[in-house]
Amino acid sequence: MDIFEIESGGPLSGTVAISGSKNSALPILAAGILADGPSRIRNVPDLADIGHLAALMGDLGVPAVRQENGEMLVEVKDESNSHAAYDRVRKMRASICVLGPLLAKRRVAKVSMPGGCAIGSRPVDLHLRGLEALGATIELDGGDIIARADKLRGAEIFLGGPFGSTVLGTANVMCAATLAAGRTVIESAACEPEITDLAEYLNAMGAKVSHAGTPRIEIEGVKSLHGADHTVIPDRIEAGTFMIAGAITCGRVVLKNVRLDHLMGVVAMLRRIGVHVDRKGDAVVVWAEGAATPIDITTQPYPGFPTDLQAQMMSLLALAEGNSAIVEKIFPDRFMHVAELSRMGANIRKEGSVAIVTGVKELVGAPVMASDLRASAALVTAGLVARGQTTIRRVYHIDRGYEQIEVKLRALGAKIERRQE
Ligand code: EPZ
Repeated sequence: MDIFEIESGGPLSGTVAISGSKNSALPILAAGILADGPSRIRNVPDLADIGHLAALMGDLGVPAVRQENGEMLVEVKDESNSHAAYDRVRKMRASICVLGPLLAKRRVAKVSMPGGCAIGSRPVDLHLRGLEALGATIELDGGDIIARADKLRGAEIFLGGPFGSTVLGTANVMCAATLAAGRTVIESAACEPEITDLAEYLNAMGAKVSHAGTPRIEIEGVKSLHGADHTVIPDRIEAGTFMIAGAITCGRVVLKNVRLDHLMGVVAMLRRIGVHVDRKGDAVVVWAEGAATPIDITTQPYPGFPTDLQAQMMSLLALAEGNSAIVEKIFPDRFMHVAELSRMGANIRKEGSVAIVTGVKELVGAPVMASDLRASAALVTAGLVARGQTTIRRVYHIDRGYEQIEVKLRALGAKIERRQE
């Protein structure tokens, strides 16, 4: 297994190009299952999670083949197997995003229950309730979800749950509704930019989706969908991660291929803690001169501060001049990074879904363990400024969601090497 060795270096400086969004590319690739004919999806990041989904789609008779230039060709070749087996799904729980497309196109879908992960139990009850509202029958058998529907019919669906909206639940129901008879309204839909991006691809395929990006999405069912070309939006979480990396090192980082309008909740918080964020042509410049001002942050559905940047922000606030409170409202257990940051000298007290971060003068490099994708990113950002060497094990977690993060960071002046353990 690979490890990262990070030496504390000076301020990051230079330009980084942000890759396509993992969380947009996944449901978009899965939606290719709905099409009669090929689709060309551009700006797909080369990540382990994308590879896992492409392998699953191959099992389902819909090969998603990467081309040299970052594009993926997706085409339905064989609809005889509609079983997304546990062995595939267990490697990436977002595989659940094939459920809605399979059900709508093939009238049957058998998808392994994704199970939990390091950040929480990851239920899919809202997905299933939404598909049942469209007329599907849902059974659970041997850990598999078996969904059937001779004919899906449009419906008015409330998709809100105890933690607000569901991103992949909205994606699944929206995909299924494109081929249902009649009109569907999804109330309390996820407003994330990844949902808007998916809707744009679906409409390019001939679907009739309106008001995506708002809490109330409307879909007029159509008879069939054809393939389409689509370019995936930039990854707002990767962009936010590099903004925080620039800030924690008191550096100056220029980000290219970034949609600042997708990051207003993050930019608002960064500016409040003293980080400068400015547009420069079609790029964004982020710089900071000193320690962050402490702040209280609550993670929320979009456009609020995203849970996927909570860990990274915690590493920045670990060096703030005072106490910060981080309230995790989306995944209350998403604090695996707290123990590892504490090993590096951070002073963090966890009380349920709240972490009290007392700023310290410095972090000290140590051997630490990555546990999940964004916790790993938090450890990397901390390692950039910790005194001495930080070694991070189980780097495969970070490869799931960041394209060659060490290469991009080295280009900004970071001292980070990937080694075989
Ligand atoms: C997506 O996961 C993202 N993943 C996650 O990013 C992100 O953290 C999450 O949205 C929230 O923004 C992808 O897009 C591939 P949810 P998703 O359904 O859709 C509860 C990363 O690091 N819930 O919006 O699975 C759930 O437990 C990943 O890139 C139910 O109760 O998340 C959570 O508390 C991690 N019932 C909340 O809703 C359901 O049926 C939000 O989950 C579904 C969800």
